[in-house]
Amino acid sequence: MSKPLKQIHLAAHFPGVNNTTVWSDPAAGSHIEFSSFAHFAKTAERARFDFLFLAEGLRLREQGGKIYDLDVVGRPDTFTILAALAAVTEHLGLTGTINSTFNEPYEVARQFASLDHLSGGRAAWNVVTSWDAFTGENFRRGGFLPQDERYSRAKEFLATANELFDSWHGDEILADQATGAFLRDAGAGSFVHQGPQFDIHGQFNVPRSPQGRPVIFQAGESDEGREFAASSADAIFSRYATLDAGQAFYTDVKSRLAKYGRAPGELLILPAASFVLGDTDAEAEEIAHQVRRQQVSGATALKHLEFVWNRDLSSYDPEGPLPDVDPLVSEEHISRGRAQVRMYRDPIAIAREWRELAEANKWSIRDLVINTGNRQTFVGSPATVARTIDDFVQADVSDGFILVPHITPGGLDTFADTVVPLLQERGVFRTEYEGTTLRDHLGLAHPDEKRSERVAS
Ligand SMILES: Cc1cc2nc3c(=O)[nH]c(=O)nc-3n(C[C@H](O)[C@H](O)[C@H](O)COP(=O)(O)O)c2cc1C
Repeated sequence: MSKPLKQIHLAAHFPGVNNTTVWSDPAAGSHIEFSSFAHFAKTAERARFDFLFLAEGLRLREQGGKIYDLDVVGRPDTFTILAALAAVTEHLGLTGTINSTFNEPYEVARQFASLDHLSGGRAAWNVVTSWDAFTGENFRRGGFLPQDERYSRAKEFLATANELFDSWHGDEILADQATGAFLRDAGAGSFVHQGPQFDIHGQFNVPRSPQGRPVIFQAGESDEGREFAASSADAIFSRYATLDAGQAFYTDVKSRLAKYGRAPGELLILPAASFVLGDTDAEAEEIAHQVRRQQVSGATALKHLEFVWNRDLSSYDPEGPLPDVDPLVSEEHISRGRAQVRMYRDPIAIAREWRELAEANKWSIRDLVINTGNRQTFVGSPATVARTIDDFVQADVSDGFILVPHITPGGLDTFADTVVPLLQERGVFRTEYEGTTLRDHLGLAHPDEKRSERVAS
């Protein structure tokens, strides 16, 4: 008997913290006005998507002391947007990225429990540790916590928030073995948490919300990040959407679940995926190329190269050859607030490889950046894209995708109208919402069910 088809999960990423967005395209709308968020959310809901996803950038990224030119300048607050969206949608899950390094569990737990109430059980929290000290300067603590301590804080942060969510439950004593912390629940909302990161006690004043706890996402790819997800998250937002890299990540993370007593279905893998549609595959390829050129202007290409070279390259012609000078290897980096600082571990070797590639192909700086940068994940006619998405999910590249259109807010419309019906015809995507909460859409158990299963077994 053949394996039953996996059902695909789809989500919509409202861009902002990336270089995918082509804000200069005449078709692009505001990234700040509520009408853009509402348009995007309503398209996602019309298409029966699982949820809308907001990444979070707490500081505008800089290079050479200037704001990075392709970024969208301005990012309204996550909770405010999601609360407003809760009022104009009925089924769509609402996922917010909130970091555990600079916030405090009590206020974050209140905000998510409140969002879960307001939305009737549709809240999700993407727990991230955030990039760097530069971001931390916005906060009271400045460059708080080295990278390797951020996950111990994240773990205790989430455990503490869970204690708060669960504090409207009963009067049992809960011990958290991971952190050595404990909670004495002596009545609705009262809590005591003592641990290395948080020593708090008081009364949690938001009653238990429809989902019990928000759905928990994690994004971060180090070993500690993967362990954190395997022990504590319901889903991972990853960047591995291609066949080989996706399968490798999927196998790695799912194989970590057993040691926490969890089944593979309890942690969904949902990579970010960009897409370009055309009437035919050839037309889509052509559009995809044009979009890449829009995403990588001459100025952007130089910034990208500076990123590896760690030097000011503004005097170079982006349509000319690569610099002869080698990258500057130093602890101080020209770029601030960007993730990829850690992606280029050996800049001298990369520079050599890129010079060779550029020479062999007669590429300018801009051509090189266009051709070595990320290609869109899915490019083709609606039939090709629907088939590829389905094939990837059935081949365990992922459990679905978080789609990142390059145009906001209208970039999802054609996907909703053309690809989604084909996925529905294939029997791998819902035609109607079957439940009311985000846990229902994602096929995740309510924490109370998990708890009673544990008590029964
Ligand atoms: C796919 C992906 C998305 C991320 N999104 C965000 C984000 O929106 N906001 C943020 O502050 N950090 C974000 N992060 C950064 C993580 O919080 C984390 O700081 C970083 O990945 C370093 O952890 P790691 O070593 O485990 O990867 C993201 C990371 C990944 C891999």
